[in-house]
Amino acid sequence: MNSTKTWLVTGANGFLGMNAGVFLSGKAQTIGATREPHTSPIFDKHVQFDIQDLSSVRSTFSSLKPDVVLNTAALASHQICEENPELAHKVNAIGAKNVAIAAGEIGAQLLHISTDAVFDGKFGNYREADATSPFSIYGQTKLAGEQAVLATLPTALVVRTNFFGWSPTGTRSILEFFVNSLTQGIRVDGYLNYFVSSIYAQDLSQALFELSDLRHSGLLHVVSSDSISKYDFGVAVAEQWDLDARLIQAAHAIHHEGTDSLTRDLSLNTDKAMELLGRRLPTQLEGIQRAKMDLPVLRSKILHAEISADGVKND
Ligand SMILES: NC(=O)c1ccc[n+]([C@@H]2O[C@H](COP(=O)([O-])OP(=O)(O)OC[C@H]3O[C@@H](n4cnc5c(N)ncnc54)[C@H](OP(=O)(O)O)[C@@H]3O)[C@@H](O)[C@H]2O)c1
Repeated sequence: MNSTKTWLVTGANGFLGMNAGVFLSGKAQTIGATREPHTSPIFDKHVQFDIQDLSSVRSTFSSLKPDVVLNTAALASHQICEENPELAHKVNAIGAKNVAIAAGEIGAQLLHISTDAVFDGKFGNYREADATSPFSIYGQTKLAGEQAVLATLPTALVVRTNFFGWSPTGTRSILEFFVNSLTQGIRVDGYLNYFVSSIYAQDLSQALFELSDLRHSGLLHVVSSDSISKYDFGVAVAEQWDLDARLIQAAHAIHHEGTDSLTRDLSLNTDKAMELLGRRLPTQLEGIQRAKMDLPVLRSKILHAEISADGVKND
């Protein structure tokens, strides 16, 4: 399933950007776009621009003319967005719009990455048409971003997701959190009242690659086909790595002050994506198993941390 297309990936030194670059390697021509100068053997070519700067985005796109733009660049931390709401808006909303403007001007297909955090988690199993209600500045600015993208470029595909896997720092995802902690014998909390349908980052990259050929536009939920609690995710990781699951203490996340027993369920319904793809999306356990198998190969490509096949040591 190789492609002759050229993909430009923003956020190319980030968690999803690098995973997408690894997946696309050998399947398409790839350009990694970063904010600061950065080179890695993952991408065929490298460029730099800040997505807040429309003229830089425009001039880069018009000189390189990628066929597909995968926009993973974002201020992706809830905490950093809470502390810097203006910057979060500039990057996640205005930056996203800038990428859509520039992609539209050169006729490139835009795949824009959004999040399950556009929902408040009161219900779960959210469909694309369900009402949004973000609980954080991050979610609000990402929602503004997806609205700006679709208003600017209606042919864009906005993918709401949540993912886990191997990240450049070795510390970015819930998978790494549990592998790191349990390998080192550290007791951790596993939340019983927090559900997501996170997808393994390589499986997400594969779905994005397939979706680019389908030319679907609008909102699409691309996550694992099941929803599990963070506690059950941790136990599944412990079982796959043969680590001590008793180190995971059943706990309740405090989502709203004084209402710690409330459940937050950010799971997304994937019926539409599975119908489009013509196949089932993997479960979280299948993603965890694949992540374990991929570790030896991905270690040298993505991780900057010192790791072994049994565990990940933090930077
Ligand atoms: N991680 C998750 O589970 C998750 C869940 C749902 C949705 N998402 C979405 O998935 C996408 C990728 O997230 P991620 O986890 O890969 O985040 P990440 O590791 O923080 O990567 C984000 C990238 O964006 C770049 N960036 C930030 N501001 C920029 C700007 N102004 N101009 C150009 N590039 C900029 C960062 O570059 P620097 O390194 O130079 O700052 C970084 O490489 C985001 O849209 C995020 O909202 C993530």
